[in-house]
Amino acid sequence: MHHSIAIAKLALLLATAAVSRGFFVVAHAHARKSCWPREREALLALKQGINDTDGVLTSWQKLRHDCCRWTGVACSNETGHVTELDIGLNWLFGQISSSLLSLQHLEYLDLSTTSLVGPNGSSVFPDFLSSLHNLRHLDLAGTPYSGRVPARLSNLSNLEYLDLSGTSLHGHAPEFLFSYKNMRHLDLAGTPYSGRVPSRLSNLSNLEYLDLSNTLFSGTLPPQLGNLSNLRHLDLGYMQNIHTADVSWLTHLHFLEHLDMSGINLGTADMFPVANTIPTLKDLILSNCSLPNANQPLKHLNLTRLEWLDLNRNHLRHRIDTSWFWNITGITHLDLDETYLHGRFPDALGGMTSLQFLSFAYNGNSATMMVDMKNLCDLELLRLDGSLAFGNITEFLRKLPQCSSNKFLSLLSNHNNMTGMLPDMVGHLTSLEQLSLSNNSITGAIPSGLRNLTSLYGLDLTLNQLTGQIPMLPRSLTRLAISMNSLSGPLPLDFGAPDLTDLSLFSNCLAGYVPRAICELKNLSLLDLSNNLFEGEFPWCSAMPSMEFLILSNNNLSGNFPSWIQNSSQLVFLDLAVNKFYGTLPMWIGELVNLKFLLLNHNMFYGDIPANITNLILLQYFSLASNNISGSIPSSLSRLIAMTLEHPKRGTRWYVQEVINKDILSVVMKRQNMKYDIYRINEMYGIDISLNHLTGGIPDEITSLNGLFTLNLSWNHLSGKIPTNIGDMKSLESLDLSRNNLSGEIPTSLSDLTYLSSLDLSYNNLVGRIPTGRQLDTLYAENLSMYSGNNGLCGPPLKKNCPGNNDLEHGDQQRRESGYDPVVFFYFGLTAGFVAGLWIVFCALLFKRAWRSAYFRLFDKLHDNVYVFVVVTWGMITSKTTTS
Ligand SMILES: *[C@@H]1O[C@H](CO)[C@@H](O)[C@H](O)[C@H]1NC(C)=O
Ligand SMILES: *[C@@H]1O[C@H](CO)[C@@H](O)[C@H](O)[C@H]1NC(C)=O
Ligand SMILES: *[C@@H]1O[C@H](CO)[C@@H](O)[C@H](O)[C@H]1NC(C)=O
Ligand SMILES: *[C@@H]1O[C@H](CO)[C@@H](O)[C@H](O)[C@H]1NC(C)=O
Ligand SMILES: *[C@@H]1O[C@H](CO)[C@@H](O)[C@H](O)[C@H]1NC(C)=O
Ligand SMILES: *[C@@H]1O[C@H](CO)[C@@H](O)[C@H](O)[C@H]1NC(C)=O
Ligand SMILES: *[C@@H]1O[C@H](CO)[C@@H](O)[C@H](O)[C@H]1NC(C)=O
Ligand SMILES: *[C@@H]1O[C@H](CO)[C@@H](O)[C@H](O)[C@H]1NC(C)=O
Ligand SMILES: *[C@@H]1O[C@H](CO)[C@@H](O)[C@H](O)[C@H]1NC(C)=O
Ligand SMILES: *[C@@H]1O[C@H](CO)[C@@H](O)[C@H](O)[C@H]1NC(C)=O
Repeated sequence: MHHSIAIAKLALLLATAAVSRGFFVVAHAHARKSCWPREREALLALKQGINDTDGVLTSWQKLRHDCCRWTGVACSNETGHVTELDIGLNWLFGQISSSLLSLQHLEYLDLSTTSLVGPNGSSVFPDFLSSLHNLRHLDLAGTPYSGRVPARLSNLSNLEYLDLSGTSLHGHAPEFLFSYKNMRHLDLAGTPYSGRVPSRLSNLSNLEYLDLSNTLFSGTLPPQLGNLSNLRHLDLGYMQNIHTADVSWLTHLHFLEHLDMSGINLGTADMFPVANTIPTLKDLILSNCSLPNANQPLKHLNLTRLEWLDLNRNHLRHRIDTSWFWNITGITHLDLDETYLHGRFPDALGGMTSLQFLSFAYNGNSATMMVDMKNLCDLELLRLDGSLAFGNITEFLRKLPQCSSNKFLSLLSNHNNMTGMLPDMVGHLTSLEQLSLSNNSITGAIPSGLRNLTSLYGLDLTLNQLTGQIPMLPRSLTRLAISMNSLSGPLPLDFGAPDLTDLSLFSNCLAGYVPRAICELKNLSLLDLSNNLFEGEFPWCSAMPSMEFLILSNNNLSGNFPSWIQNSSQLVFLDLAVNKFYGTLPMWIGELVNLKFLLLNHNMFYGDIPANITNLILLQYFSLASNNISGSIPSSLSRLIAMTLEHPKRGTRWYVQEVINKDILSVVMKRQNMKYDIYRINEMYGIDISLNHLTGGIPDEITSLNGLFTLNLSWNHLSGKIPTNIGDMKSLESLDLSRNNLSGEIPTSLSDLTYLSSLDLSYNNLVGRIPTGRQLDTLYAENLSMYSGNNGLCGPPLKKNCPGNNDLEHGDQQRRESGYDPVVFFYFGLTAGFVAGLWIVFCALLFKRAWRSAYFRLFDKLHDNVYVFVVVTWGMITSKTTTS
């Protein structure tokens, strides 16, 4: 969090500084005097220590004498001395040289976001900067300095501008920072400075810009801040644990334009009346401030210059139209997410003609939007996710602006209980870039007018009741999700959108052959056609180099294992389960080195398990269940290191988060709707090769896969003993070896599997005493048949005594230790076949309304056991990045 804000800041910095940079270059082009040799040498020495991979400093050359014309350098046009050095915002590594000391006339130094460490390669703040006495402007934002600022820095008595944001300077902010009487701009954002907010800040009476956001300052806000009467920009957002009941000091800041107090508990402060005494305010950012309401009557509204108002995450819970801000027509940005405002949007909204962003998401589905927004020609984002009680999409779209001047519009109205049909006039909303309407009750066909939306790149209609076929798509479209609808018919022979990267059509009633047109989509990285009625062979696509997620499960597809996949080396997730694929598994499968999930269950594959499969060192879940696979289990299993605890990131909470964010979320969830539960998919570490014709023994090597959660080898012809070290598979929660020809005794180490919550050893030829152990005893109580069909087994918990032995008493049946919850797995295996049957029934039922609702209730129930549908729409998340 900390980090991302700092980064966002730097990005902003980058944008603003790029502009000013251009200015400097122009300015010193007029310089007359050539530079001083001593200063030129100093700059060259500086360059020596820098690794300049981007060639930023290529103009810095001995032969180009006039160093005043070098990139980032500016000189006084009277003396010729270097006065400015601006090499910030570049990709520069290395060390900064103390040769800089020769630039005694330097007034302006910008090293921001470079990775230049101190002269000794240490990240200690470079002390010699304190000797550049003429410095007025020092920008070290985002540099790698840590530790403390040397006290000598206080010698820079002319300093007007100091930016230390995003550095790792820590401890208490040094007192001398508050002694620069000329200081106008002080930015400490994102530094880990801690302690109380220093009241001595109020000494900096010339300060116009103060940013303490995202620091670790805590405690109350000193009212002395009111002495900073020249402040224009005050950012106190998201410090550590700040509270204040008194904000009256703000009334002294007569020039304040930007105020951010996000994250500060202002629950008892009289915030809005105080803000209303500052008519200069343009930005008022009070996100997550525990504000109780925003409907105080403000007798005279002073805030007529307000442009940016952010009240998100304050639980205001009153009527929308009673809020004080609706008459301010200059507002460009209004963020009301998670405010729980309810009721009708006031008509005044239609008059807020400057509005560019309106975000009103996650407000508990109790608002209604009937406002005519035709005049909001600057609108770029309208986001209402999870906030409307109902709405008619036909009427809603008709009220949107259709201005020719409108640049781009993203409309996000997911989870809003909207009904009606998508009108053909949607084609008039030519500025639409994103249209996201997932999880509503929109009916009818997808209108062909959509094709006219020449800017549309994202369309998400997941989880509605759309029928008919997929029409010709807008050419600009890159992401399309229409999963979980009732679309029927074949796929189009031409999608019309050659740049599609994501195509998600799962859970519809699409049928017929998959057309070759799919192969024309060269940029496709996600293709999900699962849960449809496709049949025949998947076309041979010569090159799909970007494919990462190929999900074709639960159709009637046939043919050999698609050989073109060999060229899709980026593949992470391959799901061909529940189809009629046949033939042998290819040797080259081991070349798909990025594969993490390989689901081939419920097909008709035969032959051996290719040994090369163990080359897939990222593989974490693998199912071949219910095929006709024969031969033995490859013994090189120990190479599947993703299935071991040694896998670098395994086993920590952080890891799960990381993977969700990085791998799955960014690639799929951010932009797609997936049927696998994202919170569980990363917990899927397993091997399922049940229901095949495997012979031979269980290789001992399998016990090195100590990261596996499930292992299912049931219903094969495996013989030999259960590996003695089975107890090494510490993570196992489910172990099924039933219905094989396993012999010998049950290894006692089995009782070491403390996470085991499901065990089945039935119908083998196991003999001897059953090992005891708390966990095993508990499991038996839950599954009394787990040892059945093994006539040679004896001892408790079975009634049968072992020959010539008294049985020991069992220990108490203790509950499982630790707070570790057993992971519930998807039944990719056995039940999926059952679902295949269901899907056909489901599609048939789509057209019999009366039956549907009753059936759905049943279906939902079954569903829970099969796929967990988690609908996360990319629309929601992309817009989050746009607004923040
Ligand atoms: C410069 O940086 C690049 C990229 O980080 C690195 O590959 C290269 O080895 C570096 N060169 C020197 C001389 O440090
Ligand atoms: C020199 O710089 C000053 C400001 O620093 C400016 O007013 C003046 O026009 C410049 N002279 C020339 C010849 O560029
Ligand atoms: C840097 O190195 C110089 C000599 O190599 C030494 O005198 C100085 O103390 C070092 N500074 C730091 C901060 O390590
Ligand atoms: C800078 O300030 C320090 C005290 O912080 C002082 O000892 C030193 O003489 C001053 N001058 C220079 C040139 O460093
Ligand atoms: C409006 O602002 C002026 C100037 O700060 C102030 O005197 C006046 O009290 C404010 N009005 C209200 C209703 O707060
Ligand atoms: C907004 O303006 C309308 C008339 O245009 C007025 O009736 C209403 O009271 C105003 N609301 C506020 C909060 O000032
Ligand atoms: C959806 O809207 C209908 C009325 O159009 C209403 O009866 C129903 O309760 C709403 N459902 C939800 C979940 O808000
Ligand atoms: C939605 O609005 C359109 C146009 O006003 C109307 O024809 C249609 O019946 C409405 N649909 C629903 C479900 O209310
Ligand atoms: C779409 O564009 C075509 C040709 O430009 C035009 O004839 C048609 O009316 C447009 N449809 C809509 C709904 O805008
Ligand atoms: C697969 O592995 C075998 C040996 O196990 C090897 O001979 C063959 O070259 C490998 N094939 C591929 C495509 O990696």
